[in-house]
Amino acid sequence: MPIQTTSKIWHNGNLIPWEQATIHVMSHVIHYGSSVFEGIRCFRLPEHMQRLLDSAKIYRMEIPFSLEELCAGVVDVIEANGVTPCYIRPIAMRGYGEIGVSPKGSPIEVYIANFPWGKYISGHGGADVCISSWNRLAPNTLPALAKAGANYMNSQLIHMEAETNGYQEGIALDVNGLVSEGSGENVFVVRNGVIYTPPLCNSALSGITRDSVLTIARHLGLPVTEQSLPRELLYIADEVFFTGTAAEVSPIRSVDRVVIGDGKPGEITKKIADEFFGIANGLKPDRFGWLTPVKSNAAEPVTA
Ligand SMILES: Cc1ncc(COP(=O)(O)O)c(C=O)c1O
Repeated sequence: MPIQTTSKIWHNGNLIPWEQATIHVMSHVIHYGSSVFEGIRCFRLPEHMQRLLDSAKIYRMEIPFSLEELCAGVVDVIEANGVTPCYIRPIAMRGYGEIGVSPKGSPIEVYIANFPWGKYISGHGGADVCISSWNRLAPNTLPALAKAGANYMNSQLIHMEAETNGYQEGIALDVNGLVSEGSGENVFVVRNGVIYTPPLCNSALSGITRDSVLTIARHLGLPVTEQSLPRELLYIADEVFFTGTAAEVSPIRSVDRVVIGDGKPGEITKKIADEFFGIANGLKPDRFGWLTPVKSNAAEPVTA
């Protein structure tokens, strides 16, 4: 889907016109993938911005803004643009300075864009996905806990392969052949009433939606466990679903053309999705304090 432009982008503390948010082709980030970023939907803003700071810390990028300043920047840019459905893309990168691999001489630039972006994984009744022939990042190579631009070269391989072969998304295994995550989503499995998701040591991103689902499941009294999962557990699961800011809670209908359960979104997936969308859309009480209020002139509420 082409990007829909909006009025303003936040750059290093100031709102600038969308068209002026450009960088030089010789910027460090263009050559070496040196960026960290976030994807947000007005939901769990501080947790996302803390992950941005954590990703930057892993790469020794000193961001000259506090958590509070970054969160305020997000609110400012949303108030300036007032779009719905509201997607926010903060990014910190190493800019124009020196061309060597060493990042030290290239300045840190921080941008926060905000534009309308709807559902990422479409499909009535669930997505058809495959196991990718590409593994997720091996430990101690590219750090999986950093949401870095460079990691998404691996995601692109996973996603392109899936699309080329007629699937909506791919699930990658880790370097040891255990279930890791989708190209841009965490994976959950339900079997015999128990909810499973791989732990972070299986090269999965610490998804904020993953955490929301774990919290909701515990709150609903559903048994949930973080443990390594063999590939074949996906085939014999009762339910499988993706979570992510873009994907939200998306049921999976088949894996490698093996139909999951009865091929329809399962009861536990529906229960969790109902709670998740209820809170995100302001239809249920924000019992966990996950929403940040913004002033907006958008025709519809600016929520998830
Ligand atoms: C590789 C990967 N895994 C998982 C996720 C889900 O994370 P979140 O729920 O924080 O959006 C994303 C999306 O950011 C992702 O890119």
